[in-house]
Amino acid sequence: MAYQNIRIETRDAVGLITLNRPDALNALNSDLIDELNDALAGYAGDESIGCVVITGSEKAFAAGADIKQMQTMSYMEAYLGDFLTSWERVSEQRKPVIAAVAGYALGGGCELAMMCDFILAADNAKFGQPEINLGVSPGAGGTQRLTRFVGKSKAMEMCLTGRMMDAEEAERAGLVSRIVPVSELVEEAVSVGNKIAGKSMPIVMMTKEAVNRAYETTLSEGVRFERRLFQSMFATQDQKEGMAAFAEKRKPRFANR
Ligand code: CAA
Repeated sequence: MAYQNIRIETRDAVGLITLNRPDALNALNSDLIDELNDALAGYAGDESIGCVVITGSEKAFAAGADIKQMQTMSYMEAYLGDFLTSWERVSEQRKPVIAAVAGYALGGGCELAMMCDFILAADNAKFGQPEINLGVSPGAGGTQRLTRFVGKSKAMEMCLTGRMMDAEEAERAGLVSRIVPVSELVEEAVSVGNKIAGKSMPIVMMTKEAVNRAYETTLSEGVRFERRLFQSMFATQDQKEGMAAFAEKRKPRFANR
């Protein structure tokens, strides 16, 4: 598939996807989402890739779903076409996906970032769910994921007023893992991605599953799930190698098995 709305490149073991609709502040139309899903599927099947980074430009990660594309959509088109469901593919990835957010992450842009495993924010990042100003509410997980990230009070205020929050507020509220200078954002995200890719891939995937389970189940079920996964790790070569390397005071050489 030839991409018109994203750029992809490989940086060592990281697949870097750059949203690339500069004239529309990376507004997310259906072609862009199709291309994003195609790129993610390619990385999922590529054993040399251990982590994916999704980023935008310095001005905008993404300013939301494409309002001009949605403007004339009918209910039947939205419902029968199952509008927005294909966006969830990002959250279904088994390998880690990092959002590197600079500039605007609004509406669907904020929702896309929250579908990733964690968000690294540039110091100029701005997050918001301004759909209320358009006569709609968030539709790609905003009311659910933002509430889990930042709690009811702040999520409710953001969704009802449409106001933006800057990077510092987002870090304080737990929406982003860290803030880095905008000029270093992509390099830092790629470096973190390569650090993750240097671990044992099956253990990384199981760890991601375990953390995500915390959002979907009770504490006791989640702890039981984590313990069963932990026990299963003793069947991997990488557990033997990782612990042997520690005892022998050397770096582990993971086989991803
Ligand atoms: N959809 C389509 N086009 C968009 C867009 C969007 N979400 N956001 C920006 N653009 C376009 C603008 O129309 C403009 O195009 P033209 O030059 O052809 O007029 C171009 O991008 C640059 O935008 P601005 O001139 O508005 O740039 P600015 O710097 O003055 O303002 C902004 C930046 C505050 C982000 C402003 O563009 C804005 O408010 N954008 C819309 C944000 C928004 O409402 N997002 C939610 C969308 S709905 C949604 O996402 C639903 C969902 O839950 C899935």
